[in-house]
This record gives sequence, structure tokens and C-alpha cells, in this order.
Amino acid sequence: MRKPRHFLSLNDLSPEELQRLLGRAIELKAMLRRGERYEPLQGRVMGMIFEKSSTRTRVSFETGMVQFGGHAIFLSPRDTQLGRGEPIEDSARVLSRMVDVIMIRTFEHEKIQQFADHSRVPVINALTDRYHPCQLLADMQTYLEQRGAIQGRTVAWIGDGNNMCHSYINAARLLDFRLRIACPAGFEPEDAILAEGGERITLLRDPLQAAENADLVVTDVWASMGQEEEQSRRAEAFAAYQVTESVMATAKPDALFMHCLPAHRGEEVAAAVIDGPQSVVWEEAENRLHSQKALLELLLID
Ligand code: CP
Ligand code: NVA
Repeated sequence: MRKPRHFLSLNDLSPEELQRLLGRAIELKAMLRRGERYEPLQGRVMGMIFEKSSTRTRVSFETGMVQFGGHAIFLSPRDTQLGRGEPIEDSARVLSRMVDVIMIRTFEHEKIQQFADHSRVPVINALTDRYHPCQLLADMQTYLEQRGAIQGRTVAWIGDGNNMCHSYINAARLLDFRLRIACPAGFEPEDAILAEGGERITLLRDPLQAAENADLVVTDVWASMGQEEEQSRRAEAFAAYQVTESVMATAKPDALFMHCLPAHRGEEVAAAVIDGPQSVVWEEAENRLHSQKALLELLLID
């Protein structure tokens, strides 16, 4: 049997494929706006495994499948055998004999890799502790729509060297932009992932320095899902890392602000920034739908 094509990180795409996918996402968005019916996945089913909470990811994948003429099944460990210790390999073997594509949001990245190794159908990473590649598809589509190609531009990542930061490093390599990361000591991205980004990536401590003349400023929560008990320690460590109006003022006048959401106003971002004129967070959230439909086409039809 032919090995299925998985999407576990952005590195599963070539630069050309990613460019094409982003263009296609914009096309699919326009088709939807025009009210065109396009149902290439009739009769196809997606299994959606969520071991962590979600609003955007669940609704965008489920809606995308329905718009494509297919169906999606929500599976949580609370009410499936996944939460009662059925081995990952067995779950992968069984589910992939029934559905056509499987989306997983989980903790350890190794778990999704293990699942994918035993799956007959494509597996999509809907967030692990290491990566959040689907969010980057939406972010990169949003930048392209608002400002054109991101190649050669400068992006400032302010905050935790987390799963989103790792996916930004992957994107910097694939789309060839500069990425300045400002994070407190002890919260840096993983060395191996940083190294893949090469000279395009600069690691700094000062958010103002990272944002200087940047074309895009991005942040994320200080405590990710699974780190709830570290909340207060992190709030202290990240106190100087809020994206404020002064941070935005050091970026280019037409710089955009992005956040994958959910956001905490007054922590990682000031309300005046996320609700201000440079913020494109609602467009960014909507684009989860369009870019993931483009991803489904790539994995299931191309
Ligand atoms: N940005 C994002 O993945 O949102 P959800 O956690 O709501 O899916
Ligand atoms: N870094 C965040 C992203 C949420 C979409 C988390 O992992 O919780």
C-alpha cells in the first residue's frame, strides 16, 4: 500500500508546495464568498482527536469538511478508548481503516509521529507541544493577502519559544524571511529547530530591539495548554514581554500584528494593540478555515 502523506510540521511541505497552498487558500476563500459550491470530498470522513481544548481548530476543520461535502467526527479521550489506555498504534490502525484523514491535537510530538507511522491515511498535526503548523498556514495566508509576499521581510516573535515559535522558525526557512525572537532566558526555542532556521533567525532578549523596523509582530500566550500550573512563574518571567503600543511603534508604520488566539489582554498583548488598527487577528482566525481546506486538497486530492 502507498504510504500516506502526513502533515506533522511545515517541514512536510516544500517551499513551492507551501506557496501554492497559500495561493489556493486565497482562491478557495473567494469561491466561498461568491457562494460557489465545491464539494471534492463527498463521502469522505475526517477523524478529529482532541486531547486539548480548541475553538478555532475544531470549528475550522469541521466546517471545512462539511463545505467540501464530507463529514468530521469529534473524538475526545474522555469518551473514547483513547483515554483508557488503548495503545496509540492500535488506535491508528483501527481509525485509519474507517476514516479518510485524521487530525490530532495532543501533547508530546512523538505521539503524533507514532500515530502517523501506523496510519493508512494522512495525519494532520492540529497542535502538539512542539509545533502548530496549521496556524502558520493561516498566518502566512493573512500576510500574503494584506501585504504581499513575506520573502525578505522581518518578523518579530515576542514571548515564549513555544510550539508557535517553532512553527515560525520552520516558516522562515520555507518562505525565506528574517525572524527575530525576543524571549526571556530559559524560554528559548529548541536548539535543533533554531539551527534549521540558520542565519535568518536572531535570538534576542529585548522586545523593542526585535520589533525594530519589523513588518510583522507576533506573540502568543505565556503559558500554553499543559503549563497551567506554571502560570504565575511565567507571568513574572514574561512581564517585560507584552506587545504594547511602544513595541508596535518601533516596528514599521504599516506593520501587522498577529496572535493565534486565544489571547490574554493585559498579559502578552495590550488591548490597544490587539483591538487596534494594525491587528489582523480576526482575518487570521478566519483563514484557518480556508488554508486548511487547501491543505485537505493537497493531502487527499492532489
Ligand atoms: N489558534 C488555535 O489553535 O485556536 P484553538 O485552540 O481555539 O483551536
Ligand atoms: N501556544 C499555545 C497555542 C494555542 C493555540 C498552546 O499551545 O496552548
